[in-house]
Amino acid sequence: MCGIVAYLGQKDAYPILLKGLYRLEYRGYDSAGVALMQESGIKMFKKKGRVEELQKFCENLDTSGTLGIAHTRWATHGEPNEQNAHPHVSEDGSMALIHNGIVENYVVLKQQLVNQGVAFKSETDTEVLVHLIKSVQDKEGIPLPEAVTIALRMVEGTYALAIISTENPDQLIVAKKGSPLLVGIGDNEYFIGSDGAPIVEYTKQVVYLEDGDVGVISRDKPLRISNVNDSERLPKSPYIQTLELSLEQLEKGGFDTYMLKEIYEQPKAVRDSMRGRINLEKDVVSLGGIIEYEQKMLNARRFIIVACGTSWHSGLIAEHLFETLVRIPVEVEYASEFRYRNPIIYEDDVLIAISQSGETADTLAAVEIGKKRGATVIGICNVVGSTMARETMAGSYSHAGPEIGVACTKTFTAQITVLALMALSLAKKKGTIPMSLYHKLLNDLETAPEKIESVLRQEQKIQRIAQYVATKQNAMFLGRGVSFPVALEGALKLKEISYIHAEGYPAAEIKHGPIALIDTNMPVIVVAPEQHIYDKVVSNIQEIIARKGTIISIVNEGDTTVSGMSKFTIEVPGIDELLTPLVTTIPLQLLSYHVALIRDCDVDKPRNLAKSVSVE
Ligand code: G6P
Repeated sequence: MCGIVAYLGQKDAYPILLKGLYRLEYRGYDSAGVALMQESGIKMFKKKGRVEELQKFCENLDTSGTLGIAHTRWATHGEPNEQNAHPHVSEDGSMALIHNGIVENYVVLKQQLVNQGVAFKSETDTEVLVHLIKSVQDKEGIPLPEAVTIALRMVEGTYALAIISTENPDQLIVAKKGSPLLVGIGDNEYFIGSDGAPIVEYTKQVVYLEDGDVGVISRDKPLRISNVNDSERLPKSPYIQTLELSLEQLEKGGFDTYMLKEIYEQPKAVRDSMRGRINLEKDVVSLGGIIEYEQKMLNARRFIIVACGTSWHSGLIAEHLFETLVRIPVEVEYASEFRYRNPIIYEDDVLIAISQSGETADTLAAVEIGKKRGATVIGICNVVGSTMARETMAGSYSHAGPEIGVACTKTFTAQITVLALMALSLAKKKGTIPMSLYHKLLNDLETAPEKIESVLRQEQKIQRIAQYVATKQNAMFLGRGVSFPVALEGALKLKEISYIHAEGYPAAEIKHGPIALIDTNMPVIVVAPEQHIYDKVVSNIQEIIARKGTIISIVNEGDTTVSGMSKFTIEVPGIDELLTPLVTTIPLQLLSYHVALIRDCDVDKPRNLAKSVSVE
């Protein structure tokens, strides 16, 4: 969602901010803007649409200045247009501010400000912040950092903020609560980012602000941080960390799109997620991050898995892994529903939150509920240092590397890998897995990257199938058992990036409604690898064929039954049933990808979607 980049230093800020905006594009946005501190005051440039539009607009304008803030906005309050785009300025134009997050009490604050005579120019919640800070400053006659602190004490909700003011043209103020903000420290210069992407090119020395922190960045001076909850505003010493990100990871590396690059990175993502965690000699699987809480997990009454989107599909796969191997009951919940349901949580429950970004607002809220009610809270995420990594008691990273394409691909298979390792490690310790199965699964996990590679080699064939699917308005994805979440994920991928309406269903369930949709125009993609209910899936396919549906199947190499009933077939190598999602997912990703390309869709930045959904 929204992205922040800011700069204070000796260089021209605009090229750094512009590049930063491009690097933030992946988060999803619909307008962009920049504010620069110039001798004549603050100069602003804003445009609806892509960063490219903003760049074109600024081409022949004066974009000088060594201090500036810039933002990509994903519309929440008010449609995407120039008025609502950030930065927002005070009425006298002396202060400009950019904001990620949501001001929950903005209606009340806005009314108070309107009563004081403030005229609002936008429909955003953010504009409240700039007027509130200005009004506090004017009333109290205090320096900006103090005014920011006092104003933020009145704000309910979440924020990551960067503020400049003509009061001190050599100063940048930043603040954070609930929405991440990093300060990159260079050589007499500072780079601010809502994530590491706009910073990594310049420095790897970063300070992650903590909730309530207000940072004062002044030219040629060290960063000063205090916290809004500290009435005395005592300085905190900034904790400088190394940013675990490389520029190379943020580039397309010869591929046309990030999504295709990331699809092809899956053998590596799966391998990296296993690296150092399997010791074949000692016959041990060990996830260092959860060791301290392993006993709690082994004694758990129940696992509650909370997640959103693709991560929720990983959760459904984990349900099979944990129930089959560890024999502990599992509940898989949409975090957004769970958080508002007054759920029953016992102290011996283990809540497992799954999120690639580690910033999904609903999943983070579910984590808080789990903690408040005394459960053990474990996280699985892909971004080192993310809010989830810091808010959970323990956890395991998926090591997929940064994912830029909005639609998740490699983080999904990496999550499944980590969840499989977790299940294996717990199952062995609990004694709930026969050793022969344990060894088979370990062996199959080790060979999964090669198997994924062999599916990737079928891209051309999948491209031809995509020609057929691209002409359709609807598609249905079916699967049973552990292939059902794969079907859900296939449908999600197709709708996300190609805008074809798609539904994922358990194959047997379509009799209860969706079968009414089947006709010659409905492609039905069936995920049917060898599994214990393969024969049942065959019967379900018969029911579709009887209604003239067109079958596209994902089957094991050498399959004749289902492939004989299909218009198109994609073969995947055999792997233990529980691990089939690692291979059956790949053709579905490639299928959606090529359908989207044929339909001329922007696969990396699908309309209306955001990579990191930091608002509920
Ligand atoms: C967004 C993304 C999805 C992702 C979901 C959950 O909707 O577009 O691809 O699956 O958020 O994100 P998370 O970071 O929590 O896994």
